[in-house]
Amino acid sequence: MNITIVNSEAEFDHLAAQRILAGMQSSRPAVIGLSTGRTTANMHRLAVELYLRHPFDISGVSIVGLDEVTNVSRDYSGACYAMLKSQFVDALGLGDRFFMPPTMSDDFDIACMDYEAAIEALGGIDLQILGLGKNGHIGFNQPGTPFESRVWHSRMDDELEARIRLETGASADRPLGGLTLGIRNIMHSRKILLVAKGAEKAEAVRMMLHGPVTPSMPASVLQLHPFCEFLFDVEAAKFIL
Ligand code: GLP
Repeated sequence: MNITIVNSEAEFDHLAAQRILAGMQSSRPAVIGLSTGRTTANMHRLAVELYLRHPFDISGVSIVGLDEVTNVSRDYSGACYAMLKSQFVDALGLGDRFFMPPTMSDDFDIACMDYEAAIEALGGIDLQILGLGKNGHIGFNQPGTPFESRVWHSRMDDELEARIRLETGASADRPLGGLTLGIRNIMHSRKILLVAKGAEKAEAVRMMLHGPVTPSMPASVLQLHPFCEFLFDVEAAKFIL
């Protein structure tokens, strides 16, 4: 397995930012899948900073989102759309080639099929960045999600749902969800970079890499991907050292 462990948060963000930029420079018009959350926010900003210092041709680059919170406004600061737009897409002028699942829809099944078709029309994902949930989720694929899952409308995890309700005042009669690439779509990415930092992820990291490959630990499926790199800080890696 391709595992990189770094000592500091600065090194972590720097290395991840370099991987994103390297992915954007791949020879074909690159399709980069980005993921939101606390782990990836700084690396997105740093990638922008490094790019602006040493620009290169990004005219063919497309950005696709891994997942999206549903039944909130796209402009809510916790929506993945809003986060990727402000952390990355706007600063690089990539707005025309930024693809996200919708936050609102009358028919999420159709929205899922449309999103999968849009990614296929781009030629698939060259580099997918993934964060890691404490329970091993990737995207909004919670424990129990079948490995054959394709873009789908998942349930929200309780912790995140409570936070979003508090922040948006979303009414309880509208169930929040997560529209996410399925495990199968994620595994179809040509390359993957999974990033995890902090002690709270250490147990998930151990189970992901050294536990059985099982849907009850969704990220364990990455053991089977031929080109997946794992990037950890020492805290997240403490049980595998
Ligand atoms: C949410 C997102 C995931 C992300 C995860 C990690 O659940 N749906 O795509 O990987 O958060 O978030 P954090 O980096 O904040 O721990």
